[in-house]
Amino acid sequence: MSAELIDGKAVAAEIDARAGEVGASLAKAMGRAPCLAVVLIGEDPASQVYVRNKVRRTEAAGLRSIEIRRPANASQADVIDEVRKLNDDAGVDGILVQLPLPDHIDANAVIEAIDPSKDVDGLTEASAGRLVLGKTGLRPCTPEGCVYLAKKTLGDLTGKSVVVIGRSILVGKPAALLFLEQNATVTIAHSRTHDLPALARTADILVPAVGRPLMVKGDWVKPGACVLDVGINRIDAPERGEGKTRLVGDADFDAIIGHAGSITPVPGGIGPMTIAMLLRNTVRAAALRCGQPLPEGF
Ligand code: GUN
Repeated sequence: MSAELIDGKAVAAEIDARAGEVGASLAKAMGRAPCLAVVLIGEDPASQVYVRNKVRRTEAAGLRSIEIRRPANASQADVIDEVRKLNDDAGVDGILVQLPLPDHIDANAVIEAIDPSKDVDGLTEASAGRLVLGKTGLRPCTPEGCVYLAKKTLGDLTGKSVVVIGRSILVGKPAALLFLEQNATVTIAHSRTHDLPALARTADILVPAVGRPLMVKGDWVKPGACVLDVGINRIDAPERGEGKTRLVGDADFDAIIGHAGSITPVPGGIGPMTIAMLLRNTVRAAALRCGQPLPEGF
């Protein structure tokens, strides 16, 4: 048996297109397209690539984007000031501060400065609290992408056992809560978990999200399980030539493909879904802010 390949790139393209359609109809009511502001501090190469992709996909969908860039030595007060200006800008619907921030800046303080109604990353205390309480709100994008692909692949998730490996604020914790909202039975595993391979083998849906290349081996995966690989790790690939690298997930794809039921590739799995969910959140935020209804199922 060979696992079904879950094509996150294709699903993300459908969501981008739908966000563009809904955004265009909102634009008629608002007099402008929904607008995402992305804040990038410093010159971290990976962050620059992520931000470029976010801006490119936003504009390709027909939405507006604003990019705010400041040097790595920008002060925390300056960054918070930029966020406050975006809060006050009636032409901005969503604000995303790209993480990580330089060490001298307290990321929590910057995130807390974001108006929760524009918190398209779902990272403020208000957004996180609403998720815990089961209230409507903007949800973190990567975990939303995981749940979206799981539902698309497996249908109803009621009663499925989900093991999330990793307890980060950005992915692990919110992913667990979002799967719980779908009536799944959820376990969060982490670096102190005993016998992680045995626990992972109990999962109908396994979500590695720790940033450790190829950590999840073939015998960690129950036959037929769905593996949603959140990891994006660059490793040396001498087999491709001297100095070459390649991207791999937290799961050892080649070892798992033979007996999983379905698996997301890296790249082309969860990664593109994160941006699709960001566009959807931007359009949702715009609709809420201008009091417009959203179409059923968006
Ligand atoms: N850096 C890596 N992933 C993310 C994300 O989802 N949001 C933000 N703001 N920064 C990130």
